[in-house]
Amino acid sequence: MIKAVAFDIYGTLIDTQGVLGQLTQLIGEKAVDVAKTWRQKQLEYSFRRGLMRDYCDFSVCTRQALIFACREQLIELDSADIQVLMDAYSELDAFADVSDALEEMVSSGLHLYAFSNGSKQAVERLLQHADVREFFTEVVSVESVRSFKPAPEVYYHLLNVCALPSAEVCLVSSNPFDVLGAMNSGLKCAWVNRDSAAQFDPWGIKPHVVLDGLTGACHKLQRLDV
Ligand code: LAC
Repeated sequence: MIKAVAFDIYGTLIDTQGVLGQLTQLIGEKAVDVAKTWRQKQLEYSFRRGLMRDYCDFSVCTRQALIFACREQLIELDSADIQVLMDAYSELDAFADVSDALEEMVSSGLHLYAFSNGSKQAVERLLQHADVREFFTEVVSVESVRSFKPAPEVYYHLLNVCALPSAEVCLVSSNPFDVLGAMNSGLKCAWVNRDSAAQFDPWGIKPHVVLDGLTGACHKLQRLDV
């Protein structure tokens, strides 16, 4: 039976598209393309740094990815503009279904963990801003093991903090690479498909549950067999 649920943060609980407003004000119509590349490069930089064993704070990946995404569109932001966007990124809102779903899970006896590539400080700030910090037992950051998802050691670190066997911990993530990484380390996994155009990687592995949002997720997670 699932006893703990670990939530990915960026894109799963916290809506990273929230930065689009500020981005559009600063760079106009190219904002949608830049936002997409920004997120892809942010993750690519974390993967590369993980492989190179050259850990840095996730915010460094975020900042450098922003600069890359803009330069690709021949846009050079000054440092004040970069700071405006980084500040916006550190105070994004949660998706609308998050608060009620977390409350239901806590009421039903599940222990909730925030589990992110982001630093503990950055995730604490996001959760406080989104007014959902109270639902979490703990914030677990990859910074403790100085690597990034999907390295197995970050999932083992999560399990250590939960102090539970892997079959009793379910990761909930909208990121297929995170779901595959957690399954590779033995966790139960729910993929939240927040974008109807999103594809799950065709690796021949299926998540234990596919959710189209967090409403009703509590019931579905509790029905997962050990
Ligand atoms: C995180 C990124 C991967 O929060 O979404 O860990």
